[in-house]
Amino acid sequence: MPINVRFRPLFPIDASPRGEPTVGLYFDGRAMRAPVGCSVAAALLANGVSTFRTTPVSGAPRAPYCMMGACFDCLVEIDGQPNRQSCLVAVTEGMQVRTQAGLRSLDCGGAAVSEEAAHVE
Ligand code: FES
Repeated sequence: MPINVRFRPLFPIDASPRGEPTVGLYFDGRAMRAPVGCSVAAALLANGVSTFRTTPVSGAPRAPYCMMGACFDCLVEIDGQPNRQSCLVAVTEGMQVRTQAGLRSLDCGGAAVSEEAAHVE
């Protein structure tokens, strides 16, 4: 089921309204720009990304919902690290962001734990 993103940028995302600098980042290899200090979630939404992760059980697409760290629907892989809440991370130059597909293992002090046992969906 496609997600209809309801966020619309108020200004061109590669040019901040007050002329502040922007940074370049990549989402699944696609280059994009966002204002310095912008969250990864806001940057991806403004650049038209509508699926941030897929659920482990049904593979349903998910995108940010709360934008404040409560819902975990914005999980992505950032610079090789899975399970990052993109609404809580600021963009940095050259950041590599990837869609998080399904289950990810958790590193709990050397003991890998499946998210299946944790939570998710
Ligand atoms: S959008 Fe809800 S935790 Fe990030």
